[in-house]
Amino acid sequence: MAGFTTERLLLCPYTEADLDDLTSLCGNPLVWPLVLHDEVSPRSPKFRERLRLSMERAVFAAIIRLKSTGEFMGQAMVTVTDTKHFLEGSFAICLLPKFWNNGYGTEATHYMVDYSFRWFDLQRISLTVLSSNLRAIAVYQKIGFRIEGRKRRFWWMSGRWDDIFLMGILYEDMRPGAAFHDQSVTNVVKHL
Ligand SMILES: CC(C)(COP(=O)(O)OP(=O)(O)OC[C@H]1O[C@@H](n2cnc3c(N)ncnc32)[C@H](O)[C@@H]1OP(=O)(O)O)[C@@H](O)C(=O)NCCC(=O)NCCS
Repeated sequence: MAGFTTERLLLCPYTEADLDDLTSLCGNPLVWPLVLHDEVSPRSPKFRERLRLSMERAVFAAIIRLKSTGEFMGQAMVTVTDTKHFLEGSFAICLLPKFWNNGYGTEATHYMVDYSFRWFDLQRISLTVLSSNLRAIAVYQKIGFRIEGRKRRFWWMSGRWDDIFLMGILYEDMRPGAAFHDQSVTNVVKHL
């Protein structure tokens, strides 16, 4: 399958066949509270449709697979909402818990952010992250994202309030990070 290759990962194009894996990833009870800030009920068919639309709308959507086995690990995407000026991208990433803390998130994020700056000429890439999500914040800071703002009491989670950080990165903020090579031609990336 056409896609990008990093040291240990495949960043594959999204296809409809990935929807089952994506639905169970985002329905995982360890994952969804960290990524979905608007829905806490069991997943309806509409949810599947929402996932499909978000992957299709992204300018760079990737299904992340382990290079050594091809196993599904998660997904990541860069979305541009202002398609007239194409100045700002939004980044999101999500891996199955069994793959956490092995450097994979850093490897995928570094590749996708760097690629998006170089090929889309974005001025900045932004994201939001719960202030309690220390693992994700560590990844973003390692790459060069800075905390640019904080919304207090943004999200009621498991019996308590959590704040949300607004984080952003400019190309010149990027720190050298995960090594990647063997970039092959791909249809993962598409311009709107
Ligand atoms: C966020 C996510 C993509 C990170 O990927 P990952 O592969 O687990 O992250 P990495 O292994 O590359 O890096 C994790 C870093 O966090 C650090 N970390 C882990 N737990 C931590 C904690 N409790 N406090 C501070 N740092 C922590 C690790 O030490 C590591 O940093 P280091 O390499 O400098 O030691 C992944 O954990 C995930 O999908 N989580 C669920 C969904 C999510 O939170 N998405 C982001 C929403 S904004």
